[in-house]
Amino acid sequence: MKIGFIGGGVMAEAIMKGILDASLVNSEDLVVSDLNTDRLIYLHKSLNISGVKSNIEVVNKSDIVVLAIKPQNIDQVMKELKGNLITRKSFLSIVAGVSIENLQNGLGVDSIIRVMPNTPAQIKKGMNVWTSSSNVSENVISFSKKILSVLGEELYVHDESLIDMSTALSGSGPAYMFLFMDSLINAGIDIGMSKDMSIKLVKQTLLGSIELAITSEFEPTKLKQMVTSPGGTTEAALKKFEEGEFSKLVAEAVLAAFERAKFLGGKQ
Ligand SMILES: NC(=O)c1ccc[n+]([C@@H]2O[C@H](COP(=O)([O-])OP(=O)(O)OC[C@H]3O[C@@H](n4cnc5c(N)ncnc54)[C@H](OP(=O)(O)O)[C@@H]3O)[C@@H](O)[C@H]2O)c1
Repeated sequence: MKIGFIGGGVMAEAIMKGILDASLVNSEDLVVSDLNTDRLIYLHKSLNISGVKSNIEVVNKSDIVVLAIKPQNIDQVMKELKGNLITRKSFLSIVAGVSIENLQNGLGVDSIIRVMPNTPAQIKKGMNVWTSSSNVSENVISFSKKILSVLGEELYVHDESLIDMSTALSGSGPAYMFLFMDSLINAGIDIGMSKDMSIKLVKQTLLGSIELAITSEFEPTKLKQMVTSPGGTTEAALKKFEEGEFSKLVAEAVLAAFERAKFLGGKQ
């Protein structure tokens, strides 16, 4: 299977690396185009993948074409590709907010896979939620599943609206976690700890809590109750979170991301 990438940014690199590390294909089976020549040189040096300047050349050389550009660049790329004998190709899009219907119309292609990945794919701990148009071949579906599995967890959904919801939860989610980490680190510094010590404590606390949540038989709500004794320190902190309506704020933030994903989709 030959796989082409249009856009060789952070997410494309994570996918390329995952595919090669898992030996799903060899580096000669991959090709990438990017406006940024430095990225092409970098990807050639680090992963031995040949880079080209032409998006059409990538499509011609591939069975599956991964669209890994930003949403603001998709219209231009679709215009450039449409009508260039690409109808028999399959496209796998990770572009946030762009629907299967928009991709089919914009490219003039039937076979579309739409994925919402996230950046922990870089360390093979990603969450990939995906769906497909009705006419993708079994071969392409099973190969796509293999690709997504080597990047972390994959979850196929039949309802495409779950992709925009996933964008708001798992796609943008790592940034929410980093914001929370950053706030905790600064809080540690504010009460008198060195920055290095605060970073160490916060990283290990999050890692341990997440692994505990994954391996435990209990849901996070119960785990929270289990570390909160009446009149204790955790309760004092949680009371402050409640007063500041932390849960409501999180819900509003996720809703804002969801609305934005739907808006970006509607704009195409
Ligand atoms: N990063 C995330 O957390 C995340 C999570 C889930 C999904 N996504 C989705 O993944 C996609 C890629 O994200 P990313 O973070 O990897 O983006 P990125 O690092 O900005 O990579 C996109 C690359 O595409 C290049 N490009 C722009 N226009 C092009 C064109 N017409 N032809 C060929 N290449 C072109 C860009 O070059 P220039 O820099 O020169 O413009 C850039 O190198 C986005 O659609 C995003 O919605 C990202």
